[in-house]
Amino acid sequence: MSIQWFPGHMTRAKRQIQDKLKLIDIAIELLDARVPLSSRNPMVDSILQGKPRLIVLNKSDLADPRATEQWMSYFDHEGHACVSVDSHTGTNVGHIPVKARELLREKIDRQIAKGMNPRAVRGLIVGIPNVGKSTLINRLAGRNIALTGDKPGVTKGQQWIKAGKDLELLDTPGILWPKFEDQLVGYRLAMTGAIREQILNVDDIAYFAVLELAKRYWPILAERYQLDNPPSDFEDNEEIVRVMEDIGRRRGCLVSGGRVDLEKASGIILRDLRAGKLGRITLEAPYDDMPSREQ
Ligand code: G4P
Repeated sequence: MSIQWFPGHMTRAKRQIQDKLKLIDIAIELLDARVPLSSRNPMVDSILQGKPRLIVLNKSDLADPRATEQWMSYFDHEGHACVSVDSHTGTNVGHIPVKARELLREKIDRQIAKGMNPRAVRGLIVGIPNVGKSTLINRLAGRNIALTGDKPGVTKGQQWIKAGKDLELLDTPGILWPKFEDQLVGYRLAMTGAIREQILNVDDIAYFAVLELAKRYWPILAERYQLDNPPSDFEDNEEIVRVMEDIGRRRGCLVSGGRVDLEKASGIILRDLRAGKLGRITLEAPYDDMPSREQ
């Protein structure tokens, strides 16, 4: 695969986040609810150096609600507080300040016992590009102040954004990098649109998408594209390509001689998947085929 895990990026990102740790009480680790593992930086535990952490499963509007429940209990088992949100519409976003305060309850209670007036909890949102950091900051702030994207040099000074009376956020989120060494991670991120198509081949991404969807969500795939024959063997490349061709035929992606234009079919599959037209889909389940993590 042509995409790389750049150690330079990671070292810089790590330093930038660690510089900010002393300013904050809590880290808010944003993951994509459709790919909670692939959208997770494998070194996040060591980067955050034991800071209290709230895991936020974003884009839950696009994820399978049952899988999101499983992920919430998985993180709970791991000892992490977790909420699932949709930053687009704001669903559950109000749980974030509440959970953040809960996580720091002991510290806040100690301050109250000493007669102090506890200030708002200070947080930093961290996550890989495209996971929805800017959208969530805007949503929490209630107005459009955070700049979208992770363009270098966009923000000069450090500013706090008020997210209600109980939470303040640093205006620039911490940018983490996914672990591209694992081929599955790259393809799953590409399927969800987090990695640009120029980096990976569209046909290859669509191939992986069809493979994963046929394994986990065949009825959805069959209904959307009126398919009759599931792959007889998931290990057989030709069977997966045959399903892609069936989809292409259903969508009229034909070239002369009645052959299927696979690239066109691939584009349709990926557009449908990313736009949520296939329904709510999660590509990773806890405890099953997890990409490796270094912890
Ligand atoms: P980043 O700062 O982490 O890089 O991510 P950003 O907020 O820029 O969000 C990346 C894309 O994800 C944006 O879509 C954004 O609208 C979308 N997004 C963020 N949160 C959610 C969510 O909870 N649900 C859904 N469905 N989408 C979400 P875009 O197409 O790149 O931009 P735009 O067309 O929305 O402006």
